[in-house]
Amino acid sequence: MDVISVIRTKRDRGALSDEQIDWVIDAYTRGEVADEQMSALAMAILLNGMDRREIARWTAAMIASGERMDFSALSRPTADKHSTGGVGDKITLPLAPLVAACGAAVPQLSGRGLGHTGGTLDKLESIPGWRALLSNEEMLSVLDGCGAVICAAGDGLAPADKKLYALRDVTGTVEAIPLIASSIMSKKIAEGTGSLVLDVKVGSGAFMKTVEDARELASTMVGLGTDHGVKTVALLTDMSTPLGLTAGNALEIRESVEVLAGGGPADVVELTLALAREMLDAAGLKDADPAKALADGSAMDVWRRMIAAQGGDPDAALPTSQDQHVITAPASGVLTRMDAYDIGVAAWRLGAGRARKEDPVQAAAGVELHAKPGDTVTAGQPLMTLHTDTPDRFAYALEATEGSYDIAPAGTAFTTSPVVLE
Ligand code: URA
Repeated sequence: MDVISVIRTKRDRGALSDEQIDWVIDAYTRGEVADEQMSALAMAILLNGMDRREIARWTAAMIASGERMDFSALSRPTADKHSTGGVGDKITLPLAPLVAACGAAVPQLSGRGLGHTGGTLDKLESIPGWRALLSNEEMLSVLDGCGAVICAAGDGLAPADKKLYALRDVTGTVEAIPLIASSIMSKKIAEGTGSLVLDVKVGSGAFMKTVEDARELASTMVGLGTDHGVKTVALLTDMSTPLGLTAGNALEIRESVEVLAGGGPADVVELTLALAREMLDAAGLKDADPAKALADGSAMDVWRRMIAAQGGDPDAALPTSQDQHVITAPASGVLTRMDAYDIGVAAWRLGAGRARKEDPVQAAAGVELHAKPGDTVTAGQPLMTLHTDTPDRFAYALEATEGSYDIAPAGTAFTTSPVVLE
């Protein structure tokens, strides 16, 4: 087998054979196929697509590139959630302890932020002492002891995806449905969860900009999970507006703790509860009551134990930014738009995200919103506060926030779009 013939097949709109797929994934993982050759193939896949058989085989080959975990010794049913990525998407933080408090085991292997979308591990690392890197034994012990664990995927899990995802990120080949579906599902299937709820984001701040594309991604992933014996369901949820009132690492931890304490923004609470119900249903725990577990403090108890088990101090003060810049409303009226993509880019430029995988992030950087679409605002009132430790970043972030919102005359009718679309 040679890589050039594989690239040519896809370049010329052909379907890759099972043998071609198995070979190219294995050879790329071993370093026999070079990054530039894999980028050419990824671009051909982005432009010409893959059929369901090719996607299924590509996913199976990525799973086979590494180890598979096994949670069958746990006494509780396993349930996991994966979001396709958004702005202010902190849902994993309250959700994992909440679902654990209701009786499921939640093995949440999470990622770091890249580009304008935040990463769960970067957020948690703003808690003093907290460790993302656990051995498989440590991960199982936290999961068994607390009911939930949020940590980095080990190097042995779907190593083909680790290489390929980093390559796609720097070659403009992230936004391909076959590549996104196989990337997410290879990790989730290899992780060994019994059930999986997918939060497929739609809107300006998501990879999928239209409901049609999001539906196709969702049904492809549900098909892959089901074929591998993982009970998989998907929700399509709105990502045209940031979730909650914060985008940034420590800022989002603070907001998540508010949710666990029984408060927090209504959209974050609504989505957390909707996903919790789906996860509990998929895990066979239909009678559990996540709203009660949020209200009675049992989800907060799991959070505190889980953070402490990974070296973090749940009572430690979170980092705060050295410099702030307040953006005020230029006119009075009704706020009708707060663009998720623009706010995500601003948070990223303030230092909350990274431009390259190896860059550090600032724990305290990000954007705090003081109003959301539907709110009445008065000229001069704060609309958002930008946070950073490096004030020379303000000008670059302000370019992103310019045009990120609309204010309509007072009295303009406005209907807020639902958080869960389908
Ligand atoms: N998340 C992943 O893990 N992979 C993708 O390709 C996109 C989002």
